[in-house]
Amino acid sequence: MTEQKNPCCTGSNPGYAELDTYIDALKIDPRDPERKEMLIMTLHKAQSIFGYLPSEVQKYVANKFSIPHADVSGVISFYNYFHTTPKGKTNISICMGTACYVNGSDKILQDFEKALGIKSGGVTEDGRFSIESLRCVGACGLAPVVLINDHVYGKVKQGQAEKIIEQYLIEFGEEVEVQ
Ligand code: FES
Repeated sequence: MTEQKNPCCTGSNPGYAELDTYIDALKIDPRDPERKEMLIMTLHKAQSIFGYLPSEVQKYVANKFSIPHADVSGVISFYNYFHTTPKGKTNISICMGTACYVNGSDKILQDFEKALGIKSGGVTEDGRFSIESLRCVGACGLAPVVLINDHVYGKVKQGQAEKIIEQYLIEFGEEVEVQ
């Protein structure tokens, strides 16, 4: 059977050359029990290069590690940190873990969705904002918790979404009407 080459993985994207250099330096030994840790490190690296881990990148990494694609996607779905869809410049993550949920995080998620006109998992057309929901982020005492990029907002109340978004709009230096 002829191997189908995906244009994304043939080296036309310079990110793959950078990823190759990183993986080659790991000198992966197929019998090495530490290989899974190397896989996680490699996925971190790939995400920092490409911004997210689409199927093409996952397959590329699987091929480099000589493991099935399912092994790579299994690791990605296990860790909250990895994402398979592109994110906006400002990524808004709403915790939907139990403590946050019982404190109304579903309503807060709806507030952000309404303010930006996108659903969880989506990105605004201008690429500036994305919204996602997460499992417990380990800050239950601050429930409900919203993470915006690396910044943690605790005890977020309904009705605060627009105010929070406005702070980031100011950072962008543009007047954008919040819906
Ligand atoms: S449930 Fe949200 S931080 Fe733990």
